[in-house]
Amino acid sequence: MKTIWIINGPNLNMLGRREPGVYGTQTLEEIEGMIAARAEALGLKARCFQFNGEGGIIDKLHEAADAAQGVIINPGAYTHYSYAIRDAIAAAGVPAIEVHLSNIHAREEFRRQSVTAPVCAGQICGFGALGYLLALEAFASS
Ligand code: DQA
Repeated sequence: MKTIWIINGPNLNMLGRREPGVYGTQTLEEIEGMIAARAEALGLKARCFQFNGEGGIIDKLHEAADAAQGVIINPGAYTHYSYAIRDAIAAAGVPAIEVHLSNIHAREEFRRQSVTAPVCAGQICGFGALGYLLALEAFASS
């Protein structure tokens, strides 16, 4: 059974009450519940993590190298400028899929660039929490 780690970055613990017009009204806990249910249905083992700091995300990516067969990552605002997280994704050597709730390409200029996407297998954005489930589907069929 494939183990997939889902790593959410800064401010995503505030989902539900954080800019609901942009990010929706579901809490991270509710989204993680949906992820667990879909993973089970797809025959995957999912574990969810959230960190507000860059170091926590990087440490978890290093751990993923030996513990997971796939990573789904929403690095939050770090997406746009963290070369350290980009390097950690590459260093882990585990296939990663980048997910964003919002369509980062249709928002402010600074959000249109992802420095992490080039070291990921792909990027899913603009579909809200469904993006995490689509990423699970991708791992289940690869
Ligand atoms: C986000 C998009 C980022 O630009 C933002 O900083 C976030 C959330 C998303 O899921 O849409 O924190 O990653």
